[in-house]
Amino acid sequence: MEYELEESAAARLPANLATNASALKVVLPSRSIGAEISNVDIRTISDGDVLTIKRQLYEHKLVVIRGQFPSEEDYIAFARRFGTPQIYLQPNYHHPEHKEIFVSSNEQYQGRKIGVRGTGRYWHTDYSFMPEPLPLTMLRAKTLPRGVRETYYIDTTRVLEQLPDDLRALVTDRFGIHEGKYRYKVQASDIDASLAELLEMAIGLAPPVRHPCIIEHPVSGKRCLYVNRGFTTGLEGLSAEESARVLNRIFELSERAEHIHTHSWQDGDILLWDNRYLLHRAGAVAPGETSTTYRIGIYDGLPFYVGLLPSKSQPVLVETNVVHYPVGALEVSP
Ligand SMILES: [Fe+2]
Repeated sequence: MEYELEESAAARLPANLATNASALKVVLPSRSIGAEISNVDIRTISDGDVLTIKRQLYEHKLVVIRGQFPSEEDYIAFARRFGTPQIYLQPNYHHPEHKEIFVSSNEQYQGRKIGVRGTGRYWHTDYSFMPEPLPLTMLRAKTLPRGVRETYYIDTTRVLEQLPDDLRALVTDRFGIHEGKYRYKVQASDIDASLAELLEMAIGLAPPVRHPCIIEHPVSGKRCLYVNRGFTTGLEGLSAEESARVLNRIFELSERAEHIHTHSWQDGDILLWDNRYLLHRAGAVAPGETSTTYRIGIYDGLPFYVGLLPSKSQPVLVETNVVHYPVGALEVSP
């Protein structure tokens, strides 16, 4: 992918922040996603540089921060600059000493299994199966395989723009049903449970939720197509057969090669993306290779979509005049 160098990242900042000397470099994407950040150390990063990254994130949907090798503590502290780190609902994914870190790994840690292997190898957006989905995902590779390691993205705003009229009409003002039950990872404690019992337990863990098929971004106001192959199991108001037919058409269109952005991992990369805009999928790890990634989910303090109230308990949909959050409101880290 080719990039174009931004002439002055400082020119995009408020005057009081633009005067602070900063070596941070931003390379803008040639397509719609993926700003690249370098010349910064996340352990000592200034508020002004964090704001620059937030602006790039909400505008370009994915940012890649190069050359970072933080401790677990420093990594979590950096995530806190963007919001509140999530504690994932299933403890078997947690790092044994830092529960904010969701571990995907086929390695051992201090002689024991750590996290879960082979996560997220299907198109999805994180936590869409929950009442309040996860706005931001931060990811770094603790161990990269020697061969290729890739993560793939689809910009759902672009897909929505290209949706044929009949499909657009079918998803406009319609809700999708999202469930995580088919992606439940069996663990050691599940031994002797039947498939029916496991399914029942997975449904109890995260009952089905509904989200609009088209959501509006709380910062940019852009509209995103919010259905995904991993977790969207139906469309309200349509029969099961019609839902499957419509969703499959959407997924096939979304997943065409021209929509896919590939990130090829380099040692020291930290990725940060906005789940409102993007579908993602993890690439495979070749047999015999080792891989460990550390993910931190982040609640950025904004509604996941316009009309959804952020809440620690039960989010509710409300009728609202559309008021988008100005980027200037994002300056304060919690
Ligand atoms: Fe994911």
